[in-house]
Amino acid sequence: KSEKKVLLLTGALMSLFVFSVLYARDKYNDAPECLPYDKVYETPKVTKIDDKTYQVYAVAGMWQFEPSEVYIPTGSEVDFFVTSKDVVHGFNIAEKNVNLMAVYGNINKSTVKFDKPGVYTITCHEYCGAGHQNMQAQVIVN
Ligand code: CUA
Repeated sequence: KSEKKVLLLTGALMSLFVFSVLYARDKYNDAPECLPYDKVYETPKVTKIDDKTYQVYAVAGMWQFEPSEVYIPTGSEVDFFVTSKDVVHGFNIAEKNVNLMAVYGNINKSTVKFDKPGVYTITCHEYCGAGHQNMQAQVIVN
């Protein structure tokens, strides 16, 4: 009889464990990811999935980001897919703790939620040549 109890307890612990792993994965889904490369990411664009969900294909190049301005409504969740068309650049949104590398032939992804209106600056934080200091773009949330 006590064997049954042990089994039940083990089962409960197992499901708790599975649940917490799933929960943690969901909670930290904004962790940077490296995705399989596809040429489609080389074209800069902003896609609206629904009112609060957007995708941004950001292309870094000497010395600018495209698109250079992204307009989204407050409360939006944005998937940033980042690549480079030349050397290695950085993709940093300091206020949002986003810290990605923009690498030719590579896609890095980060999901960010913008709960507050404002202008969020994307900066290149990887030295990439003469125009590095001025290489930035903006996410305008309102
Ligand atoms: Cu691009 Cu520094």
